[in-house]
Amino acid sequence: MSGLDLRRAAAARALDLVEPGMRLGLGTGSTAAAFVDLLGERVRGGLDVVGVPTSEATRRQAEGLGIRLTTLDSLPHLDLTIDGADEVDDRLRLIKGGGAALLREKIVACASDRMVVIADAAKRVARLGAFPLPIEVNLFGLAATQIAIDEAIAESGCTGPATLRLAPDGNPVMTDGGHVILDARLGSIPDPERLGAALWSVPGVVEHGLFLGIATAAILAADVGGRAEVT
Ligand code: A5P
Repeated sequence: MSGLDLRRAAAARALDLVEPGMRLGLGTGSTAAAFVDLLGERVRGGLDVVGVPTSEATRRQAEGLGIRLTTLDSLPHLDLTIDGADEVDDRLRLIKGGGAALLREKIVACASDRMVVIADAAKRVARLGAFPLPIEVNLFGLAATQIAIDEAIAESGCTGPATLRLAPDGNPVMTDGGHVILDARLGSIPDPERLGAALWSVPGVVEHGLFLGIATAAILAADVGGRAEVT
């Protein structure tokens, strides 16, 4: 069973949570895209919902599927956000931002009554940090910000460099908000709350990929004997 099958299985279960009239946050990444695809099928069948996309990529996908969209400016309160994650621990703490959409993802999730994570069960970890932590940073003063981030990381009991994320063409990856991403390769984050607070103290940090106390549930799909077991 492929990772894509597992992502689709988790996405399909999340679709059961969607009710007519709901105001939905639409996540970013391949698992969220599987959910948006399935949602599009339901919308074609007559389901009436409205969505707020967490990235331009998701906006284009949802528009193409005929899903009615709005913005948080018009609709500042949502019922449910469905999104993927790069890591999830047993306290529903997450690392997100592998797709560089962490800022909009966090704004949308925090504007929602519920945020449900959908993922391949391989994303479940005992301790966050094997996945490089994305940190979205303003371009102004980048070198100074990078030094301050390194200090914040060290003060939080973590070790590892934060390096600029580059696109295949060698240029920095730019987020939808016009910022850049530093990926902190920490290996392990002993105290995510402490690290999150330390990163927030750095001017120039726009957002970090630790989602702490935001997710309300996780739907994880595992390959058990060639079948997707969704929990
Ligand atoms: C996007 O910025 C990320 O937060 C994604 O939600 C995360 O990287 C999960 O992506 P996949 O579903 O593609 O693994």
